[in-house]
Amino acid sequence: MVEKQVAAIFAWLSIPRKWTASHGNRTSVYFEIIAQALGMKTEEIAVYKLAIKLHDLGKMWVPNEILYKKGPPDQKEWEIIKRHPIFGANILHFLLQGPQLSEFQKLASRIALLHHEKRSGDGYPYGCCGNSIEVEISAASIVDVFDALTSNRPYRERNSFEQAVAIFNGDEGPRTQPSHFHPLAYEAFLESRQCLRQALSSFTS
Ligand SMILES: [Fe+2]
Ligand SMILES: [Fe+2]
Repeated sequence: MVEKQVAAIFAWLSIPRKWTASHGNRTSVYFEIIAQALGMKTEEIAVYKLAIKLHDLGKMWVPNEILYKKGPPDQKEWEIIKRHPIFGANILHFLLQGPQLSEFQKLASRIALLHHEKRSGDGYPYGCCGNSIEVEISAASIVDVFDALTSNRPYRERNSFEQAVAIFNGDEGPRTQPSHFHPLAYEAFLESRQCLRQALSSFTS
């Protein structure tokens, strides 16, 4: 039931937002690697993998000219982008109705809502829930950033694996720092480096 519903939503997302859909697939693969290092159970990982595919559903409501702009967004555009977690969580609330979907709906909406929050408190959309973010959601944030850094974007080439790890370590300043993530999630990310490198090369070769 959940699988069919996610597949239907994902197919709908894939048509107008190809990159967002492939980003959802890759983050799901990367999440499994970190989740194994965290010691999550197989059944739990399977549910998270489905939920993570939908984390950027809210980008359906961000206009193409902003999403695919060949340059960084201006302040007004950035304010629209920063609302995509709320759009996503709200739409998942309506799309995933029914008794068999209620637990999954809560999880998928929570990941959609919180995947850009940072433990340091300067994430979005709220910028205020740092320490309340569970280790699993923080792991979802890590794979989200990892895929964004290692993918081509309209305004830059993708970073290599080594460059991405250095950025995570704070080499490019405050935008990405280890302190943004749950310490256990970050530790699992570092432990998983070899497997993540292999997975990345399977997507880029
Ligand atoms: Fe996002
Ligand atoms: Fe994302």
